[in-house]
Amino acid sequence: MQNAVASAERIFNLVDTEPIVKNRSRTIETDTLAGDIRFENVHFQYETDDPVIKGLDFHVSQGEMVALVGPTGGGKTTIVNLLCRFYEPTQGTIYFNNVDYLDMKLEDIQSRIGIVLQTPHLFSGSVRENIRYGKLDATDQEIEQAAKLAGAHDFIMQFEKGYEQDVGEGGNLLSVGQKQLISIARAILAEPELFIMDEATSSVDTLTEALIQRGMDRLMEGRTSFVIAHRLSTIKRADKIIVIEDGQIQEMGTHKELINKQGKYYNLYTRQFRQELEAQYDVFTQAETARS
Ligand SMILES: Nc1ncnc2c1ncn2[C@@H]1O[C@H](COP(=O)(O)OP(=O)(O)OP(=O)(O)O)[C@@H](O)[C@H]1O
Ligand SMILES: [Mg+2]
Repeated sequence: MQNAVASAERIFNLVDTEPIVKNRSRTIETDTLAGDIRFENVHFQYETDDPVIKGLDFHVSQGEMVALVGPTGGGKTTIVNLLCRFYEPTQGTIYFNNVDYLDMKLEDIQSRIGIVLQTPHLFSGSVRENIRYGKLDATDQEIEQAAKLAGAHDFIMQFEKGYEQDVGEGGNLLSVGQKQLISIARAILAEPELFIMDEATSSVDTLTEALIQRGMDRLMEGRTSFVIAHRLSTIKRADKIIVIEDGQIQEMGTHKELINKQGKYYNLYTRQFRQELEAQYDVFTQAETARS
């Protein structure tokens, strides 16, 4: 009894917490997020006094794919948090389609953004239920269609109970790759206008990686997307690469432009990705040797 009371107190405290980010008293009705996105002199710090984002200026055109790259702790996740308005800039402005996003309704923004996290969260329940969170009134057919587009259908069908398979507490009965595919299916079902992906750093097998890649392609089609990218194959395809270090933009451009510049990105590329390329080369030569 005592335990239950203590737990209930904690739950009610949480439920009663006033969110820091709230709708302004007057908001503008918006029926789409599609259009250009602009960061203007955006600064930000979390509760601590350390500035984390220090004056970001950039512009993204509708439909572009942006890759955020840079060393750990640089501020990539924070930028995405700001974009989704999980936090608001302490200075400067973020515009969707030339409208200051603080003038828009939180629901109007957040319901139109699809996010796939580095370590995707699943809820205990079945695979089907987990995909359905993308669109609560989706039919079973729509769910399976989304799973097919995401490349998740095949492994789901291999489960003993298929779509009714229980994913376990937080999805712990599935692999990281499978969880990502399910959250991609969930995002596809939601048909977001803006797609954000924090690419997994942990390695998944090559087949799963190819599936994830395809699922991402499907989600990026025709929509603006931000990818916190770790894989060279993803970064190279971006329309715009933004190199973030110490809360600032160090470089911005396409893969080709930044390679020619021989600056930060070039260094990052030659240092970090040489291994990746070598690994690919090894696989290739092994296959060649095996064949001959
Ligand atoms: N909730 C938080 N409260 C306080 N400080 C935070 C919080 N989240 C991140 N930070 C700090 O903000 C800075 C930027 O962190 P962020 O997570 O944006 O980096 P990142 O570029 O995404 O790194 P990684 O590549 O490791 O994911 C870091 O110094 C981090 O310690
Ligand atoms: Mg991060």
